[in-house]
Amino acid sequence: MSEPTATPTRATQTPTGGIRTGGTPMPRYAEQLIRGRHATRAFRPDPVPEDTLRAVFALAGAAPSNSNAQPWRVEVVGGAQRDRLADALRTAHAEQRVTPDYPYSEGMYAPVHQERRAAFGADLYGALNIGPEDHTARAAYDAESLGFYGAPHAAFLFVTGDGGPRLAADVGAYLQTLLLALTAHGVSSCPQGLLSFYADTVRDELGVEEGKLLVGISFGYADENAPVNRVSTGRAALSATTTFHA
Ligand SMILES: Cc1cc2nc3c(=O)[nH]c(=O)nc-3n(C[C@H](O)[C@H](O)[C@H](O)COP(=O)(O)O)c2cc1C
Repeated sequence: MSEPTATPTRATQTPTGGIRTGGTPMPRYAEQLIRGRHATRAFRPDPVPEDTLRAVFALAGAAPSNSNAQPWRVEVVGGAQRDRLADALRTAHAEQRVTPDYPYSEGMYAPVHQERRAAFGADLYGALNIGPEDHTARAAYDAESLGFYGAPHAAFLFVTGDGGPRLAADVGAYLQTLLLALTAHGVSSCPQGLLSFYADTVRDELGVEEGKLLVGISFGYADENAPVNRVSTGRAALSATTTFHA
């Protein structure tokens, strides 16, 4: 199979600077793409064809980064390696071998963040019929999610260089670009911060020698019948997050 071109041609620009995509005006196209992406937590086992995989990851590489340094290292797994890694992650979890490269603490969230997280958790666990006080069932579900929610593939994003917050921001831009590229190709996904808690396990299994693990992404074709995939998330009002200065 030939490598997809690293620098594809630009979409056509109109005289006023808008971009046309066939018959669909770009703003509507962008809105469909951005709002059409959702976190998916139940997948069909069918693998994504290799040419689609290559097209998606080539497109994701168009993400912006400070000075175009592109400080990401991306490891994509499928097939038998995916199964071995899922087993290793579950074992690491059972043995409490938690090795995050980026520290995590509940205290990093402001009260308003905690309110949003609680509302999201209520919706998610409600869709799973897991009660708010059923901590055992919630923990079991989290452990099960180390099997990539049944997705046939996962990608792991490592931050190279010093792995510091500025370079991690670049890899955050890569993450969203990847999620949108997947969406554009009809592939569903779930970013999973939980996977980054087992950085040494991922490193050992995949033979990765460089970088800090920021996040993993499970991806594949959605199980449209799974109730958990019907959870919808709202967003804060524009005024709660954004100020326009003039
Ligand atoms: C960096 C990051 C880490 C996340 N980690 C997890 C995770 O560990 N498990 C999970 O089920 N969802 C995870 N998510 C998905 C979020 O819960 C989801 O994006 C959010 O609730 C908004 O829903 P939406 O993506 O469907 O719009 C993560 C998302 C991001 C961006």
